[in-house]
Amino acid sequence: MTVTKKRVAILISGRGSNMAALIKAAKAKNFPAEILLVVSNRPEAQGLALAQAEGITTAVVDHKTFADREEFDGALHRTLMDANIELICLAGFMRVLTDDLVERWRGRMLNIHPSLLPAFKGTNTHHQALLAGVASHGATVHFVVPELDSGPIVMQTEVPVLPGDTEEKLSARVLKEEHKIYPAALKLLASGKIRIEGDRVVAV
Ligand code: GAR
Repeated sequence: MTVTKKRVAILISGRGSNMAALIKAAKAKNFPAEILLVVSNRPEAQGLALAQAEGITTAVVDHKTFADREEFDGALHRTLMDANIELICLAGFMRVLTDDLVERWRGRMLNIHPSLLPAFKGTNTHHQALLAGVASHGATVHFVVPELDSGPIVMQTEVPVLPGDTEEKLSARVLKEEHKIYPAALKLLASGKIRIEGDRVVAV
């Protein structure tokens, strides 16, 4: 039986290692999603070349060329609609989106955040974790809602914080796990195996 794959766009701002993990996973014949577009808000994002090397269409919507967030988000939305995108994965996309855009994609946009949410929202999460002296840290894939780094949680991964850890060591340990949970979370969403109930994600 042929699977109808969901049409996915990945939004990046930089390195694109999570993007690469999603692209790799989506190559599997039975993966329920295909990555058709990678959009960056930064023309210099390293991930763009990686995506192009995989034969994926890329677009740059440079936030610096727009008067305000509304105009930027409008251009972003049109780029996604022109490609008939059904699901969005934010993967190291470092722009705050307007409530309007987030509402338009509610239930269809995932983000990966490098902490065990609701702990350590915002930036420098590994630094925050080391400062707090927690024994466990990790990453979260969640649906995007207007409130930053919130929204129903699809999947989390936990790693230990070890004696002698630096931000570099800890972030590398977390990143390795990010590359596993993001494709797994996208698979769940694209195959219709989860839905949002109130503030939570439940299995269908
Ligand atoms: C990842 O660790 C991701 O979780 C984080 O940025 C990094 C991007 O790396 N995202 C955020 O902090 C979002 N608030 P990548 O470009 O190699 O995937």
